[in-house]
Amino acid sequence: MANKQFDVIVIGGGPGGYIAAIRAAQLGFNVACIDEWKNGKGGPAPGGTCTNVGCIPSKALLQSSEHYEQANHHFADHGIKVEGLGIDLAKMLARKDQVVKQNNDGILYLFKKNKISFFHGRGSFEKSGDAGYDIKVAGAAEETITGKHIIVATGSNARALPGAAFDEENILSNDGALRIGAVPKKLGLIGSGVIGLEMGSVWRRLGAEVTVLEALPTFLGTVDEQIAKEAKKAFDKQGLKIELGVKVGEIKSGKNGVSVAWTNAKGEAQTLEVDKLIVSIGRVPNTIGLNAEAVGLKLDERGAIAVDDDCKTSLPNVWAIGDVVRGPMLAHKAEEEGVAVAERIAGQHGHVNFNTVPWVIYTSPEIAWVGQTEQQLKASGRAYKAGTFPFLANGRARALGDTTGMVKFLADAATDEILGVHIVGPQASELISEAVVAMEFKASAEDIARICHAHPSLSEATKEAALAVDKRTLNF
Ligand code: FAD
Ligand code: NAI
Repeated sequence: MANKQFDVIVIGGGPGGYIAAIRAAQLGFNVACIDEWKNGKGGPAPGGTCTNVGCIPSKALLQSSEHYEQANHHFADHGIKVEGLGIDLAKMLARKDQVVKQNNDGILYLFKKNKISFFHGRGSFEKSGDAGYDIKVAGAAEETITGKHIIVATGSNARALPGAAFDEENILSNDGALRIGAVPKKLGLIGSGVIGLEMGSVWRRLGAEVTVLEALPTFLGTVDEQIAKEAKKAFDKQGLKIELGVKVGEIKSGKNGVSVAWTNAKGEAQTLEVDKLIVSIGRVPNTIGLNAEAVGLKLDERGAIAVDDDCKTSLPNVWAIGDVVRGPMLAHKAEEEGVAVAERIAGQHGHVNFNTVPWVIYTSPEIAWVGQTEQQLKASGRAYKAGTFPFLANGRARALGDTTGMVKFLADAATDEILGVHIVGPQASELISEAVVAMEFKASAEDIARICHAHPSLSEATKEAALAVDKRTLNF
């Protein structure tokens, strides 16, 4: 029997892959999407890392744990008394799983709505021929399908520390970190990056004593220094213990937990004894089982699929997007690349502006930014003006009872074009969108300063920070 033939086959159904499939279907192509993720019952669970063990479940637990933190420590400030407060962790985790399932089901619905053929199983290259590329699908059954264009969107996996393989019992990746069955008394984290801070926050709020060991001497080195310092002050106050400039040595895991030998910044030998250890030291591109060698698909020196600026690989009509290629490992970056590639296949001019990809760390306070940091501008020698506005001087933040942090604008000294916006504080994840839009339209700081913002709102802090660039804040 002849292979089923598709215009576009997407391998991987994470945010990069499923969005690419939808956009390609919208453009009139006959599309297949292959994804191997299994839910607890062995059924399909499209959505990738983001939906199953990343963005979505982490935000569900961040929300639940923040509610607990508020009830435990902050409701009293509002005159609300809570008695008999407790945690039903099983229910909290079940709610998180339900949120994940809703997203899995939503994607399956979108596949149907857009007439995309979904295959549950592992996709791998078999060979190339006149009709395109033969892709073997190994699932409950095995079959080979053929695609004229292939989009590889196979994502990434957690990086393990040498000598400390993930067992998801004691030594946890992001997967195990999202389903610890009882709040650990002592929790260790290696790496104070995005996952370290988000997961550390969840389990600290729920009652764990959290210690984070970070190799670099500076906290959040890629974040604007002033913002990172402000965030660190808040985390210190919350009791998140972050040790910088450490060297992690031997890790022993046993019945009683995990023991980590480490050296502090002064070179003194230390031992950290914890019930659970989360290792969050970055992620590696995933090409396992793809059989890239069968067709000669080239990888780069990091093991990512080598692509050009347009996500074209070394092979004609084979594209790659998301975490499996260069660039920030973010769901929205993967999605943007997915849309752009589908449009390029259709002969359109898909475009991703890497200068305006926002970053958000969903801690409390939230940290969000877009564009360049002050240290990057200094290093590049670009003349700039800076303006900051603290949430302490914002009426809505006071009413919310959350006045930590600030908004910071960086603008070109001569033209006033916005070069970067950095926020630490309440709802930073939502506030950053205005800055992204402004930068996408090449706005000046004055443009934002002259726009009417609703009162009272946190967004007034954005307007005021833009005014601060010209040293004319109104409320500070
Ligand atoms: P993935 O989401 O990894 O999807 C790849 C899919 O391909 C998977 O389903 C996998 O099973 C499948 N697959 C792999 N190989 C094959 C094969 N050969 N055949 C068939 N299927 C295959 N990003 C944000 O922007 N915001 C956040 O808040 C955020 N939070 C995160 C929290 C955590 C704890 C983690 C770990 C990550 C977080 N990220 C976040 C990052 C985000 O999850 C990734 O950037 C995003 O999932 C990448 O999308 P992708 O489509 O490239 O890959
Ligand atoms: P990360 O790159 O954010 O942070 C890793 C940290 O570990 C760094 O600070 C690094 O210096 C440190 N480190 C590396 N090796 C070490 C060692 N041997 N000992 C001690 N420290 C060490 O990586 P993380 O947190 O694993 O997250 C992976 C990626 O997932 C992120 O970069 C991001 O792209 C994505 N993500 C995004 C989120 C968001 O957008 N809110 C949330 C979570 C993850």
